[in-house]
Amino acid sequence: MTPRFTLTAAAFAVAFTTSLAAQTQTAPLKVGLMLPATGTFAALGDNIERGFKLYVEEQGGKLSGRSIQYFKVDDESDPSKATDNVNKLIKRDQVDVIVGTVHSGVALAMARAAKESKTLLIVPNAGADGITGAQCAPNIFRSSFSNWQPGYATGVVAAAKGYKRAMTITWNYAAGNETVKGFTESFEKGGGKVMKDLTLPFPGVEFQALLTEIAAQKPDVVFAFFAGGGAVKFVKDYDAAGLKKTVPLMGSGFLTDGTLEAQGASAQGIVTALHYGDNIETPRNVSFRNKFAVTYKINPDVYALQGYDAAQMLGAGLAAVKGDVGQRDALIAAMKKVQIDSPRGKFTLSEQHNPTQDFYIREVKGNYNVVTGVAVKSLADPGRGCKM
Ligand code: BEZ
Repeated sequence: MTPRFTLTAAAFAVAFTTSLAAQTQTAPLKVGLMLPATGTFAALGDNIERGFKLYVEEQGGKLSGRSIQYFKVDDESDPSKATDNVNKLIKRDQVDVIVGTVHSGVALAMARAAKESKTLLIVPNAGADGITGAQCAPNIFRSSFSNWQPGYATGVVAAAKGYKRAMTITWNYAAGNETVKGFTESFEKGGGKVMKDLTLPFPGVEFQALLTEIAAQKPDVVFAFFAGGGAVKFVKDYDAAGLKKTVPLMGSGFLTDGTLEAQGASAQGIVTALHYGDNIETPRNVSFRNKFAVTYKINPDVYALQGYDAAQMLGAGLAAVKGDVGQRDALIAAMKKVQIDSPRGKFTLSEQHNPTQDFYIREVKGNYNVVTGVAVKSLADPGRGCKM
């Protein structure tokens, strides 16, 4: 009797496990979206979500046979709430993957929680260098950039224009400081000198005293990192202070991306560098822009692009394991080696899972960031301090 019983139990166990695995592969995939829905970065979060969902809809609403169940948390771009917020997705909702966020300080806390819990994390904007540097992990990927990258690319352009004396201005937090560091590195390598770094606390917009200091120092160029609502106010205040006519304003492209209708005449002619531009005339970009505009009745921006590519990265990983997220190592290996056919141009990921990509020179014309050249081709983040 005993052997027969054992056999039946074993057969039952196999059948049970197989049907459980089949069920998990057909159940909806749980995607946690941790993005800002309020505050100065709210519009950025909205467009990341739109871009992500656009790609999923293009695939018929499913990725590798799995429909998607979304779980959403408004992170308010508040680092002090970030650990609690991300744990709502990891512990309460038990999501399969987290997509987020915009703000570098919030993303660093998310990366810590993702690393500890081994939850798959795709960062669709926040550039904190540490995410693909000292805090890197096999389960953490980025579809956007590291802060160093656009700063470095803009410094190359500023130096090539022959500017010698620069001042920088930004919010005093990881994204601002790391972007300025990248700018300073290449600008000074190109023969320039950063005379002074000006900062104010995030998300402050009291720029007046700092603009007065710029007017007094008269640098050849000002480099700024601001984004979202803060970028709108900064560009308008810079113009209102009369500086637009006397000291050229440059920035990483976030200064003028997704903001142009609100910035109006104050933004015209501003030169920036970024991994995207509105008029990239490839069929891939034209189709992305048309579908986005038809679906959402607004034009896409860099944030929409990064959300779209986050979904592409996840899609590539899921395709390799036929939707079975349980095959974690194979899923991660596929994401690592994928070449993303992005509307920005094809890109691959560095060893540390950050896009190695072209950075474009862009100039504001009307409501568009028009590409006028390439600042740096295939720029890879150095990934300092990463031990996978
Ligand atoms: C950041 O905090 O990393 C960030 C926010 C907005 C635009 C770009 C970077």
